Amino acid sequence: MIKDNQYAIEVDGLTKRYGGLLAVNNISFTVRKGEVFAFLGVNGAGKTTTVEIIETIRPLTSGRVSILGMDVTKKKRDIIRRIGVLPQGFNSFDRITVRETIQYFLRLFGRSNSEADGLINLVDLKEKSTEQFKTLSGGLKQRLGIAVALVNDPEVVFLDEPTTGLDPRSRREVWDVLLSLKNKGKTVFLTTHYMEEAELLADRVAIIHKGKIIAIDPPAQLTEDYDNYIILTLKSPKGKASEIIREVGFEPINDKRGDIKVRLEHTEDVQRILNAVKEGGASFHGLDVRTPNLEEVFLKLTGDSIHEETAGERLAK
Ligand SMILES: Nc1ncnc2c1ncn2[C@@H]1O[C@H](COP(=O)(O)OP(=O)(O)O)[C@@H](O)[C@H]1O
Ligand SMILES: [Mg+2]
Repeated sequence: MIKDNQYAIEVDGLTKRYGGLLAVNNISFTVRKGEVFAFLGVNGAGKTTTVEIIETIRPLTSGRVSILGMDVTKKKRDIIRRIGVLPQGFNSFDRITVRETIQYFLRLFGRSNSEADGLINLVDLKEKSTEQFKTLSGGLKQRLGIAVALVNDPEVVFLDEPTTGLDPRSRREVWDVLLSLKNKGKTVFLTTHYMEEAELLADRVAIIHKGKIIAIDPPAQLTEDYDNYIILTLKSPKGKASEIIREVGFEPINDKRGDIKVRLEHTEDVQRILNAVKEGGASFHGLDVRTPNLEEVFLKLTGDSIHEETAGERLAK
């Protein structure tokens, strides 16, 4: 008897070129069955390219990719029956209602119309089931997109940036739907550039940067592995705090809120900096000392900054 493969997805040495552009550079990873796996990276990192190769939509340049034990270059028809896809920027027929849209896609997969209610309930769209697509908010459109991705009761569900551009409340509603997929035992492959989304939802996170996977682990492990330093935040600094900190030998970072962050290796340095700031005649309205979260681990690993604000920052406004 063949041993049941524990992996839903196996990627070995995957490379993708677009002409001279190396979009995905020799990456290897596996996704276990029942796992929520997240690809975390900025725009252009190679997330959609990788995901769409696994979904059999784009051809690969080299490497081996299999899903549910099937090679993506050889078993496209069999694969698409068993996976669900929410593409980046999902769209549908403007004037078709929520229920009609779901029923249409059910028919495409040879399923019964009677399955529509279950899907509508799963994504919590009962009250909107007679609304046309074009009247739905961004969050509702995404939830409909997830229902569409589920019409064939797929074993593996791909969600490419499911919450990008959504307000915090809609984002949380999409998260609830994702968590219910996990509870149903689906394997979920999520891409995102929101740290907190990866941290909250994923069993394992792969950080992808310029077509390479630079770290891959459960989120708690990622933050633990890189917590050999602490972060001091000075809130709403007044005066020349940044200059003073630089003068005593540290590298302050001004974040988007106007706070100063300093990465430190020793707790004694906190006092050194606070003393220097005080003696230098600068002040601040509050401070925070803690170990890094996934966002800071990401920034440290990539040396890059996340281009869009996080949901937390959006909330803070
Ligand atoms: N069809 C394509 N043709 C040419 N270049 C592409 C194509 N799709 C993506 N790219 C490029 O490949 C890189 C990775 O893109 P993508 O996979 O969409 O990244 P992400 O989803 O992480 O934003 C980017 O530089 C992008 O411009
Ligand atoms: Mg993308």
